[in-house]
Amino acid sequence: MHLRWRSARWSGVLPLATILFVATPVSVGAQPDAGIAVADSLVRAKCGTCHAADARGRLQRLSWARATPEGWQAAVQRMVRENDVSLTPPEARAIVKYLSAQHGLAPAEARPMMYSAERRVRDETTALDATLVDTCGRCHEAARALSWRRTADGWQQFVERHATRYRFTSDPRTIAHLGEIAPFASREWTEWRARTPQPAPVGRWLVTARVPGRGSFHGEMHVDPAGGDDEFRTRLRLQSVTDATVVTRSGRSVVYGGTAWRGRSQGTSAVTTGPDDLASEARETMWVAADGARAEGRWFWGQYEELGFDVAMRRPSSDATLLLVDPSSFRTGAMAGRLRLIGDRFPLPVTAADITLGAGVAVRRIVSARPGEIVAEVDVAADAVPGPRSVAVRTSTGSATLEGAVAIYDRVDYVKVAPESSLATFGSRTYARGVQQFEAIGYQRGADGRPHTTDDLAVGPVPAAWSMEVFYETDPGTQARVGTISPTGFFTPADADPGTNFDVWIVATARTEKGQDGRPLTGKGYLVVTVPTYTFDGRTFVRELGRWIEEGGGAR
Ligand code: HEC
Ligand code: HEC
Repeated sequence: MHLRWRSARWSGVLPLATILFVATPVSVGAQPDAGIAVADSLVRAKCGTCHAADARGRLQRLSWARATPEGWQAAVQRMVRENDVSLTPPEARAIVKYLSAQHGLAPAEARPMMYSAERRVRDETTALDATLVDTCGRCHEAARALSWRRTADGWQQFVERHATRYRFTSDPRTIAHLGEIAPFASREWTEWRARTPQPAPVGRWLVTARVPGRGSFHGEMHVDPAGGDDEFRTRLRLQSVTDATVVTRSGRSVVYGGTAWRGRSQGTSAVTTGPDDLASEARETMWVAADGARAEGRWFWGQYEELGFDVAMRRPSSDATLLLVDPSSFRTGAMAGRLRLIGDRFPLPVTAADITLGAGVAVRRIVSARPGEIVAEVDVAADAVPGPRSVAVRTSTGSATLEGAVAIYDRVDYVKVAPESSLATFGSRTYARGVQQFEAIGYQRGADGRPHTTDDLAVGPVPAAWSMEVFYETDPGTQARVGTISPTGFFTPADADPGTNFDVWIVATARTEKGQDGRPLTGKGYLVVTVPTYTFDGRTFVRELGRWIEEGGGAR
């Protein structure tokens, strides 16, 4: 049965594709880029039957393509699905591992596209070429294309085949643009290949994390080898900066090519109940810097990968490190405010003079000091200039500094709900609900004195009361059919799927911050609560929504 289905489905496609493929062999002379020889016997055995090897061990197409682990995984899956390549799961894993390491992206190439692997919702129109987004960002994120590096010829062949297959019109300008911004041969890649390998990321890491709605966390991860030089076991302990919450997790990870950390971890005991339990099993996606001393990324879970930690890690240094400060903002004129500095190896004893926050902010005294935490009391002058401030702790060799760690503000001018536009999804028998955490972020108008301009200063989350307004509310029962917003800004769709979409304003009313008119500041975010079969890709959706709001749709 299974075989009949396959052959019925693909019999027309496979021979044609194979003929096309064989008819356009990669001739060495025509290929300006040197290509990467494939040394791995499994890749040669499994892929080399169709992607023929030349005398220098280079496999057709594969030797002139580079991609992220997600890119290689998708390609291998497609070969299995469409070209009847037969692989056991361990073989598929080994092939993806080899290609991701040897035909991967250099850290500098991978970093701008990390949002895709991190499953962050991002409006690509602001960062990428408009033609590229229009042509390649229509069905999936444009980042999917930019997770690959190909020669100019390789892009041309890929896009032409892709356009035939998915019936869209490719634009020669897009192909040329891809060849320019995602070239197979690059300085970044050459340098990365020539590097002295960094030691494996084993041992102790200092970790900071932020969870929307829950604030900041800090702690340590211990990494132990778990096979080969790229597989690891992890143990993590994180502590909330704002309350007594402690998160302990353990997991496993692979670090492809020394830079692409992909792992999975789980809490060892429940932290909270509900879908946003910080002990939930999560996928870990991180970018490891070229020097091997820093990593950053997202650990996420949820039906729509909508929940997670934003994580930054660094190797401890022999000197002091300032990791984070709490709180992250002070109002001008605030006297005797408590400032906590969290870090590693702070030099002790420490005096008030050892800590600086710039003009207008005086450290009055040290309340307590340990190697990992200093608590200081600060006075902010009434005429201190608002803006971001770096915090520095003097050490024997210089200082441990955190750029822009504290925002000094005179007043909160407005409140914005984050995310500004978002999606939540009703559940079904097969799919769990998609939820959404909101935050009310306070802003100061910035140096130009005008609110809602690019120089505005984010003051951080402000306490708020939450409510929702359903568009076209038909009867008093409408809200209950849509869902609920908790006192902490967590939206959960209703139990039953009403089989239709709802447009909702999520409204934050600041508890303490008031406007010039003396009324509490409010902000609102646009939320679509949709049915589980809604096929529109959430990331594309956000972009479309951005346009809709720009065109005044949000004003109704
Ligand atoms: C049975 C033949 C066959 C085998 C075996 C095979 N491929 Fe392919 N592959 C093709 C054909 C045909 C194409 C071109 C048509 C297409 O893209 O589907 C292709 C295209 C590709 C592409 C897209 C190339 C580009 O940049 O345009 C990648 C990547 C790829 N293969 C990877 C692999 C890997 C990795 C393996 C080994 C696990 C493999 N293939 C094994 C037949 C095969
Ligand atoms: C009409 C819809 C559509 C458009 C437009 C489109 N793609 Fe795709 N693309 C797809 C689909 C569907 C997949 C997923 C295939 C899969 O997951 O197996 C995909 C997957 C990909 C992949 C992953 C390839 C792989 O081997 O899994 C890349 C790279 C890609 N697209 C690049 C592009 C580029 C570059 C453009 C613009 C020139 C583009 N796409 C435009 C539908 C589209």
